[in-house]
Amino acid sequence: MIISSTMDYRAAARRRLPPFLFHYIDGGAYDEQTMRRNVEDLRGLALRQRVLREVGEVDLSTQLFGEKLSLPLALAPVGLTGMYARRGEVQAARAAAEKGVPLTLSTVSVCPIEEVQSQLSRPIWFQLYVLKDRGFMKNALERAWAAGVRTLVFTVDMPVPGARYRDRHSGMSGPHAALRRVWQACLHPHWAWHVGVCGRPHDLGNVSAYLGHRIGLEDYIGWLGNNFDPAIGWRDLQWIRDYWKGAMVLKGILDPADALEAARFGADGIVVSNHGGRQLDGVLSSARALPAIADAVKGKLTILADSGVRSGLDVVRMLALGADGVLLGRPFVYALAAAGGQGVAHLLDLIAAEMRVAMTLTGAKSIAEITRDSLAAQGVP
Ligand code: FNR
Repeated sequence: MIISSTMDYRAAARRRLPPFLFHYIDGGAYDEQTMRRNVEDLRGLALRQRVLREVGEVDLSTQLFGEKLSLPLALAPVGLTGMYARRGEVQAARAAAEKGVPLTLSTVSVCPIEEVQSQLSRPIWFQLYVLKDRGFMKNALERAWAAGVRTLVFTVDMPVPGARYRDRHSGMSGPHAALRRVWQACLHPHWAWHVGVCGRPHDLGNVSAYLGHRIGLEDYIGWLGNNFDPAIGWRDLQWIRDYWKGAMVLKGILDPADALEAARFGADGIVVSNHGGRQLDGVLSSARALPAIADAVKGKLTILADSGVRSGLDVVRMLALGADGVLLGRPFVYALAAAGGQGVAHLLDLIAAEMRVAMTLTGAKSIAEITRDSLAAQGVP
């Protein structure tokens, strides 16, 4: 099959992956309503076609946090990306760097910060969760800075884990024993090839670098589960703001009141996100939440958005709603699972090409020229 879209990569990933890994990436929380609406609401926005605008060459480049990017996007932090291809985070980060954009490395990556950063000439972004173990957080911040990371994406929408039914059914979440069984099933000859795909899956790089011993997939949920901190508040974040000298971006903002708090707090940016519909099912899609947030804080801080972006047209739609850039989540992992780093690079080319068509036909020569006027009047949520 000739692959020409995110959905083609999704289908290819489905064929390649053991079911528990496919559903881990593909699934969301509870009934998955928000996950579906993220995609539908965004795709449902009508772009405003304009013709004969003498557009010529379009410039897709932009500046985010003082960094020049070839496209207004970064790869989103996705835990366990290293399970989807051998040293998967390195492959994805290399492909992204080749295309002029950063990868955001998840706290719970397979490859540690140093391994990924040392293979690139441009800085990655690093994502950190709010965890009870402040020693881990401080250690991760120190290591990220020493490796050359300057943009910290701090995820604030996970004080408790959302329940994901597909993961429960597959054994990916739930009791310790279930996860061990799932993993051992992968070692069965039927999935033997998969061990090659995963490389060294028994290691969560950033966590083991801190603990001083390996922490495998079967320990991952337990470690993370014990570390969620539902009592977290703005005051608890202050030490990070004081400590981290680079850009600090708060990920998981869905309400204008929280966006205003983030600006008052001194964040450099926010990510309008519902975690891809993996946390609280039933909340607003990012496309619906974004316009009011942009009205509240546009110009005060950098606005990124994710949850639902599947194409270059979707990138243009998010920018038209008020985002300065987007994070690309599930699509790059499908591409990685289907075709490794080459798949990720190809997907980024597809997105760039789709953006060029959308910008030419909405009359935008540059990223700055994508505004709410790029949407048809009836198209705004
Ligand atoms: C995520 N996401 C996520 N976010 C984060 O801050 N840290 C993480 O470790 C993860 N892990 C993770 C795993 C998987 C399998 C998925 C699908 C997502 C959320 C991610 O960064 C992003 O917000 C969503 O993926 C956006 O939704 P879409 O566009 O992928 O549907």
